[in-house]
Amino acid sequence: MRILLANGPNLSQLGHRSPDVYGTASISDIVAAVKRVHDDVDDFVTEYEGALIERLHRARTDGTAAVVVNAGALTHYSYALRDAIELIELPTVEVHLSQIAAREPFRHHSVISAVVDVTITGAGAYGYELAVLAARQLVAARHGAD
Ligand code: DQA
Repeated sequence: MRILLANGPNLSQLGHRSPDVYGTASISDIVAAVKRVHDDVDDFVTEYEGALIERLHRARTDGTAAVVVNAGALTHYSYALRDAIELIELPTVEVHLSQIAAREPFRHHSVISAVVDVTITGAGAYGYELAVLAARQLVAARHGAD
């Protein structure tokens, strides 16, 4: 089983970016920690909305069983991303390092939450591991229901 771990804009800057909010681990540190525990994770990092959407489209047909996505600020306004998540029809977990509900008002709403299965916020880097665990459960539940 392959799980896609996709990160959107500005997450490549973790470590340097607002460490008080996001912690000091880089995206490579976070991905490496996840892969130490889960050897079936494929990671993808991009600054581009279209590249993220194209990667999700590929996930529909490349054997990916589930998706974990931190879409960065696209979370709050990208209806194109929302539509992509909806159309691939894969179990999907939305993850945010920070507790977005406790931050600036524009971060309170996620336009993708309505089309994902699980949302994990505020657990920092560990949230990614929780998200992969949740993705695994979603796949098991979906297959159990087949
Ligand atoms: C984020 C929260 C978003 O509001 C922000 O734009 C990010 C990171 C998080 O992981 O907490 O880029 O998704």
